[in-house]
Amino acid sequence: MSQPKKPLGITSIETRHHAERAELFAALKSLDRRSFMKVSAAAFGAAASQSLMPPHSFQPVRVAHAQGQKQGFTFAYISDSHLYERELNDRFVNQLLRAVDDINAMDPQPDFVLYGGDLAQLGAAPELELGAQILKNVKAPLHMMVGEHDWFLDMGEKWRELFGAPTYSFDHKGVHFVVVNSIIERDFWTERGMTPQQRMLTVAGLDNGGQSPFMVGEEQRQWLAKDLASISPNTPVIVFSHSPLYKLYKPWNFWTDDADEVQALLRRFKSVVVIHGHTHQILTQRIGNIHFHGMLSTAWPWPYAPEGLPEMTVQMGRPDPFNPHDGLGDGSMNVHPDGLIDKLYNLWNRNPVTVSKKYMVSNGKQDAPATSNLRSY
Ligand SMILES: [Fe+2]
Ligand SMILES: [Fe+2]
Repeated sequence: MSQPKKPLGITSIETRHHAERAELFAALKSLDRRSFMKVSAAAFGAAASQSLMPPHSFQPVRVAHAQGQKQGFTFAYISDSHLYERELNDRFVNQLLRAVDDINAMDPQPDFVLYGGDLAQLGAAPELELGAQILKNVKAPLHMMVGEHDWFLDMGEKWRELFGAPTYSFDHKGVHFVVVNSIIERDFWTERGMTPQQRMLTVAGLDNGGQSPFMVGEEQRQWLAKDLASISPNTPVIVFSHSPLYKLYKPWNFWTDDADEVQALLRRFKSVVVIHGHTHQILTQRIGNIHFHGMLSTAWPWPYAPEGLPEMTVQMGRPDPFNPHDGLGDGSMNVHPDGLIDKLYNLWNRNPVTVSKKYMVSNGKQDAPATSNLRSY
């Protein structure tokens, strides 16, 4: 006689989601390389079970241009993750995990990864520590840059403790790389008797006119002048800044107040590329010899500023407000031997977009980036 059947172990999607979520955060507490794949698989599974992302969208970044380039090299970026404490928001945590997975899946691996700033949302130690813990799992060497959301609670104390100095330079395969802290502000808080939290919340607002414009500042400009003094004008220079090193739209702080002075220091070089975070969108600009490229965010896309959009920018289209992954992503740069780059935007919900060296050099006359494969909302 047949045995009575055991009740089927059916778990509802919601229960499964919560179990996976609990597993994700339990594992995050002691995250190491070995547990990371399990954790990020759980993050993906949890998101997929909620129909947050179509399964086919989880694709490793493919850098087609990198294949034929014998002398060039590739580096990747992740930017603007805006992590809250995990109890408040786990979506942004999952999205950063997804970016780390994307970059770790690149074949060949990038020479290094740049983190573009705004790792935390409100500069709190637990937010920065959570980010540091996740970023430990990036396989390639990691270079960090600071954003205003990381800085204005304790004026960068925790960030520096975790990641070191925010201003530095290094040389890689014939290119001179510079990382600057472009989010210095004049003291607007002391006179008004603001607490550190009030200062942070003021800076964190997109259109909060109570703050000062960002700047690189006198001290760092002097450092930059000294750093570049020994570099030949024929050496390609690539600069990383959190805010764009040009004046785009002041009411939103898409702006660096002393951008003209910084650009003046870069003018004598034949090849200069500036890669920036902060604007959370595809953004392309050329001013003389300097090519500027914005990075995507893993947290949310900003709309384009209502005026002053650089002519070179082919807009990514307004993202679908009902799809929390639309307009987000990560990406990579293929650096040509002359130091100019093809910038790949790996949009998670849309076709990837490449803004090529050819497009930049021809002032937008050749090789225009493909426009979005989806409608603009
Ligand atoms: Fe940001
Ligand atoms: Fe920012």
